[in-house]
Amino acid sequence: MSFKRADLDFANLDFSYRKVNANIRYYYRNGKWDGGTLTNEEYFPLHIAATCVHYGQAIFEGLKVYETKNGDVVAFRPVENQKRMVKSAEKLFMARVTEEIFLEALDRVVNANKEFVPPYGSGASLYIRPLLIGISPHIGVKPSEDYLFMILVTPVGPYFKGGFKPVKMLVVEDLDRAAPFGLGDVKAAGNYAAGLRGYFRAKENNFTDVIYLDAKERKYIDESGPANFIAIMKDGTYTTPQSSSVLPSITNMSLRTIAKDDFGWKTEQRSVAIDEITNFSEAGCCGTAAVITPVGEIRYRDKDYKLFDQGRTAGPKVTQLYERLVKIQLGEVEDTRGWLRKIEIK
Ligand SMILES: Cc1ncc(COP(=O)(O)O)c(C=O)c1O
Repeated sequence: MSFKRADLDFANLDFSYRKVNANIRYYYRNGKWDGGTLTNEEYFPLHIAATCVHYGQAIFEGLKVYETKNGDVVAFRPVENQKRMVKSAEKLFMARVTEEIFLEALDRVVNANKEFVPPYGSGASLYIRPLLIGISPHIGVKPSEDYLFMILVTPVGPYFKGGFKPVKMLVVEDLDRAAPFGLGDVKAAGNYAAGLRGYFRAKENNFTDVIYLDAKERKYIDESGPANFIAIMKDGTYTTPQSSSVLPSITNMSLRTIAKDDFGWKTEQRSVAIDEITNFSEAGCCGTAAVITPVGEIRYRDKDYKLFDQGRTAGPKVTQLYERLVKIQLGEVEDTRGWLRKIEIK
């Protein structure tokens, strides 16, 4: 696709907000969505009593748009994000953003910011952040009647600038991000505030992030703050926690499919006890941002468990998974499952 790009060093961008041309906003009032408006305004008016501010009626999503090898501008599995946003909305008694509106908003906002879609080969992407907030004023605890759905986009650089290197994770037993019957399985904004304590605990102790255990028994692995956990067991099985307080990751779902159908590996989604750590040969954290961050070392109860190559290099299976998914995303390997949604650039 040949269109003019912004004068940016795409390969060296970091993961931070950068002003672009426009964001898009759809209002839900009197039980229906309006036609949506593109705007270059970065602020929005909000009532002082809006439910998003007082009572946390705020949910979001995260996905990426980028250019493939043949020059198409694509989004990776955006309908999965839309479906997850509906699940989040249902759990928080919010209005549902339909697939039609979600995809229309995506097409419009990407077109309005096409010069910020990083070129193929830069490793960068246009990060897409759909947001849904309750905007009706209420002083008592009750759901909003009106909603605002927005998508902001911003170009972000490649995640692994220093190479695909393993990180160290810290298992915490005195912090939780979500409860078994709470909101951990949806993308509620408050979950991320709840994860800040864990993040800073990890940083203070020179770890990349924490791994949370299940809040009830403190026995099973849940996930890390912003990513699912996967282990490659010593027998080669791809194992990932099944838990009601874990966000169903679209990356994890895709990697499981690749592991099972493309590589013929055994995969399982089940309760994974932290005591099984001695049976892990490799591990990783997976999510949109990094696809997979290899985990080389895990500290649990003051003991350091080193995985593949004593935690010095990424394991072969985690690397194989990472490379295959990235190649599918970039159109370097055929997308046989229709995971890439092309965005027509006008
Ligand atoms: C809590 C949490 N877990 C896992 C993930 C990974 O999900 P996905 O692969 O859909 O980006 C994310 C990121 O969205 C997250 O916030």
